Amino acid sequence: MEKLVIRGNPGLRLGGEARMSGAKNAVLPAIAASLLTSEEVRLTNVPRVKDVETMMTLVDDLGGSHLAEGDAVSLRVPRIRSDEASYDLVRAMRASVLVLGPLVARFGKAVVALPGGCAIGSRPVNLHIAGLQKLGARIALEHGYIRAEADRLRGAEIEFEKKTVTGTENLLMAAALAKGETVLRNCAREPEVADLAELLNKMGARIDWPDPETARIRGVRELGGAAHAIIPDRIETGTFLVAGALTAGDFAVRGVVPEHVESVVARLRASGASVEPEGADALRVAGAAEVRPQDIATSPYPGFPTDMQAQMMVLLTQAAGTSIITETIFDRRFSHVNELVRLGASIEVQGDRAVIKGRTPLSGAEVVATDLRASAALVLAGLVASGETVVTEIEHLDRGYERIEEKLGGLGASIERIRS
Ligand code: EPU
Repeated sequence: MEKLVIRGNPGLRLGGEARMSGAKNAVLPAIAASLLTSEEVRLTNVPRVKDVETMMTLVDDLGGSHLAEGDAVSLRVPRIRSDEASYDLVRAMRASVLVLGPLVARFGKAVVALPGGCAIGSRPVNLHIAGLQKLGARIALEHGYIRAEADRLRGAEIEFEKKTVTGTENLLMAAALAKGETVLRNCAREPEVADLAELLNKMGARIDWPDPETARIRGVRELGGAAHAIIPDRIETGTFLVAGALTAGDFAVRGVVPEHVESVVARLRASGASVEPEGADALRVAGAAEVRPQDIATSPYPGFPTDMQAQMMVLLTQAAGTSIITETIFDRRFSHVNELVRLGASIEVQGDRAVIKGRTPLSGAEVVATDLRASAALVLAGLVASGETVVTEIEHLDRGYERIEEKLGGLGASIERIRS
């Protein structure tokens, strides 16, 4: 087991620059998309994080192969050996469900474990299933597994009852190989969805967007290989911008798409921080001496992302006054609260709201996080807590952040990974 030891300092000022990695949540569907063709799919700007490894292992288990070199990965799936994503895999990484659409579309069969709940909420996949059924897949839920079968999928009109990121992605992939036209309405608008559509089009799919929430997919018989550079990780970017605001630092975050972090930047500015573009693909963040409190509700893109809620909460513990964060996407995404309270924060959860009373000095302690973004929040808190903060169970952090300790260390933080 590894842990991070952070020697914090309430007066810490980070400086220099940090380069962001490719987006975990864009590369996971891109890897799943390699199941749609027998030709090579080559991805670059791929972050070296655990979830990416898990997804590549899954594609290999299904019969594919991959070659990883630096930030590039080439995947090939000439045929499949298995059509099953096991419960162990799906439990380790919920995004495994992304193989469902491609498998049933190309091979006519898929068996994928039902994800069940996870640390951030109940997370059903009913909308993925209902959409595939509309495309003509026959689906049975048996013994904790989704069993899907189809001859060739057929295009259909589908309106998502609720916006779902991986649900939209699964259906885009399935519809790409369906016979005829599919229209998906109320699609998730996250940049990762658009990035997948771009890759699919490079592979020969015919997807266009009559409006930002409606995808029209004209199905094709076969898809081919493609090369694609994954978009930068907007959540990693947001996490580093919060680090700048929190530490009264002044540094550049490079390799980013500023438009993708607009809602986070707006909130950081409202809290007093300065965030300014530096050229086309960098942002400079400078923290303010006093942080202003905020009322924030998470919402689907382009709203404030649920994946930034925990990190923003850390900043608000340092605000001069009371802030409220309302989590509207997931029903249990406050697991970081109790740990932040252990570090000295004053936060009370009332249903889907967290009331954060600032400003409270933080003091280092051993803390444990049960999900990815919660772990990132604890690392941020550790930067400005006095004394030593030890973040355990960092396998959650490693699922989605590439070398976070090196990147923060490069900005002047004292943070070390040790084996326990
Ligand atoms: N939902 C349903 N039925 C469904 C699917 C979703 O009711 O069939 C509900 C969910 O319960 C939730 C809401 O719809 O209340 C939105 O969930 P969504 O399906 O959009 O989430 P996801 O696709 O499972 C992705 C990201 C998450 C991110 C959410 C929200 C990937 C691989 N994961 O999950 O990322 O929090 O969108 O933006 O893209 C993370 O990176 O830490 C992470 C959890």
